[in-house]
Amino acid sequence: MPNIILIGFMGSGKTTIGERLADRMGLPFIDTDHEIERLKGMSIDQIFKEEGEMNFRELEKKLIASLSVRDQDFVIAVGGGLPCYNGLIHTLNQMGTTVYLKCPVSLLAERLVMDSTDRPLLSNLDKEQLVGYIEEKLKEREAFYEQAKVVICDDWSANAILRSLLPQKS
Ligand code: S3P
Repeated sequence: MPNIILIGFMGSGKTTIGERLADRMGLPFIDTDHEIERLKGMSIDQIFKEEGEMNFRELEKKLIASLSVRDQDFVIAVGGGLPCYNGLIHTLNQMGTTVYLKCPVSLLAERLVMDSTDRPLLSNLDKEQLVGYIEEKLKEREAFYEQAKVVICDDWSANAILRSLLPQKS
């Protein structure tokens, strides 16, 4: 089984699903945001504020370049914007099975309104603005996300998603 790479909008459940999947498959789990924070010794919010979004996109690109040459398999959850910059969706597709966790705008908004704390792109938005922002950004990003090898098309429970991705026992 090759690497599994979870992509999708903020709030689509990449980290939650990725951690459980890695646990059940006995593989290491990598979350690109956490890895960048660890390597830089700064929070994502600080990186955006002090160095700007474009610098953050460069850090994402470098991290994927270093992960793409690793021998060991892993499950990886990538930041919501990562596949949409620097042609990285193609690199991710070469690295393993990309899985797009596709969620309706209403569900994303519901989750993100509860938890926008460490997401600099959302920090100044009220609930109404948040829905508009998600709709607009998703329109831009969907063309990249849809290039994933597997698209999981609705708001399934985490367990249902896991069942569909885990290798079937014979
Ligand atoms: C971003 C998503 C975030 C994080 C950064 C930018 C985006 O990751 O990389 O705040 O551009 O959608 P999550 O999708 O894990 O929240």
